[in-house]
Amino acid sequence: MEVHIKETYEQMSIDAARKVADVLNTKPNAVLGLATGSTPQGMYQELVRLHREEGLDFSQVTTFNLDEYVGVPPSHPQSYHYFMHENLFKHINVPPQNVYVPSGTTDNYAAFCAWYEQRIDDCGGIDLQVLGIGSDGHIAFNEPGSSLGSRTRLKTLAKQTIDDNARFFENREDVPIYSITMGVGTILEAEEIILLINGENKAEAAKHAIEGAVCSQYTASALQMHPEVTAYLDTAAAGKLEMTEYYNWIQKMKPGAPRL
Ligand code: GLP
Repeated sequence: MEVHIKETYEQMSIDAARKVADVLNTKPNAVLGLATGSTPQGMYQELVRLHREEGLDFSQVTTFNLDEYVGVPPSHPQSYHYFMHENLFKHINVPPQNVYVPSGTTDNYAAFCAWYEQRIDDCGGIDLQVLGIGSDGHIAFNEPGSSLGSRTRLKTLAKQTIDDNARFFENREDVPIYSITMGVGTILEAEEIILLINGENKAEAAKHAIEGAVCSQYTASALQMHPEVTAYLDTAAAGKLEMTEYYNWIQKMKPGAPRL
């Protein structure tokens, strides 16, 4: 895993957006895997700026979101459909028919999950997957104990996630208990992955994800098995990492490395 540590959230968001833009400039019809949460908001803002001011084009892009709350309709302000529309889709030129977000209101979850996996395949697979991380080390809604080979499915949220996400709802009781989520196995099939981590409250999760043992208790640690992962952290999130000097050394020495 390549680790980039920046002073501020703004800087890491700009770097992550630059990475997405590089992929789109190389492959204008790329398939993006997208995440919700407060973490990628800065990156989405920068992508919107790049679209508006530098002509970054999404007209041939396809997107697949990681997850959605069960029982929450797309019109609900806390649905991930709504989040994506407000934070990204309505500001860029991605064709609406190319946008996929798991349904939280289907009457047949098993069939929907199988269809979602098939759609990803039919679109040629995900070129670049964007990920945040939960404070319990989860990616998407793959809570502790999720199989590292799991596929898109219905998943019960952990209490810690319900507590963490309660800040977005009026009452804790309003936080959904179930989600529909891409599996760890689904995520690991992406060609390339970027993992965004910011804030002191994610420092422990970051340590397990980047330097811990690969285990289903911290599903982000499975990313260590993937050959093309870049992690973008701010210094607060990197606070518990032991190899920071080494990661910075690698970044410093990279420009001078012999070309392959
Ligand atoms: C939810 C989402 C994850 C996200 C996590 C962290 O659990 N399913 O995809 O990474 O929240 O959210 P935040 O970035 O708001 O801390």
